[in-house]
Amino acid sequence: MKTIRLDSRLACVASLVKKCDCVIDVGTDHAYLPVFLVENRVCESAFACDVKKGPLENAKETVKNYGLEDKIETVLSDGLDSVQSMKNCCVVLAGMGGILISELLMRAGWLCDESVQIVVQPMSHAEYVRRFLYENGFEITEEKTAADGKHVYLALSAVYTGKRTEYTEAKLYYGKLLENRDETTARYLRRQYDRLKKRYDAIGTDERYKDESLVLKAILDEFHEKGRNFDADR
Ligand SMILES: C[S@@+](CC[C@H](N)C(=O)[O-])C[C@H]1O[C@@H](n2cnc3c(N)ncnc32)[C@H](O)[C@@H]1O
Repeated sequence: MKTIRLDSRLACVASLVKKCDCVIDVGTDHAYLPVFLVENRVCESAFACDVKKGPLENAKETVKNYGLEDKIETVLSDGLDSVQSMKNCCVVLAGMGGILISELLMRAGWLCDESVQIVVQPMSHAEYVRRFLYENGFEITEEKTAADGKHVYLALSAVYTGKRTEYTEAKLYYGKLLENRDETTARYLRRQYDRLKKRYDAIGTDERYKDESLVLKAILDEFHEKGRNFDADR
């Protein structure tokens, strides 16, 4: 029997998934992740979901190639719309933008359940995802980064507790990552910092962007206060 290998981004996502009954991979495309998780007995079964027929065909092909048709069901679904609520499961949304991920999470009220793990890997706008999770009673339990060539990716795990998490605007950009001491995370954080600093410098003293400039200044100051020299640490 063939065994699947994941690239570093998906391996990082997979490493966050806790042992559970079922994984629901939303936006699965090729279904590599659910195949890996079932093969490695992280879950008993999985749903590989995608909103588009083409990617779902890819998913079916992969599931067949690995002989897992009895364990992985492919589902045509916009987000979680066509998936029944479940317990003891993990919902994964990887390789999509943070704004879309937040919208898809918001539409699935049944995720407000302590037995449901959420693992997301936003390709952009992680700050939207963190804001959604903090404000809606989800606790971010772990954050990790992975490098693949010049790209650095973020993945995070969350679970519903019902308690809102207090946050600053800066925390939306670093989350739990300041706890990590690895070089990939440092690279990721520096990029966040550089992106914000670039915007701050571009706005300059233009009165039209005064409010945004104040917010950015507070974020950049907090990044420095948290103990790393983001300007010089290269
Ligand atoms: C870049 S691929 C990521 C594939 C895989 N999750 C990964 O991380 O490698 C994004 C996939 O999300 C799917 N997608 C986009 N919007 C979606 C939605 N609203 N519901 C379900 N799938 C969606 C796309 O069709 C595409 O197959």
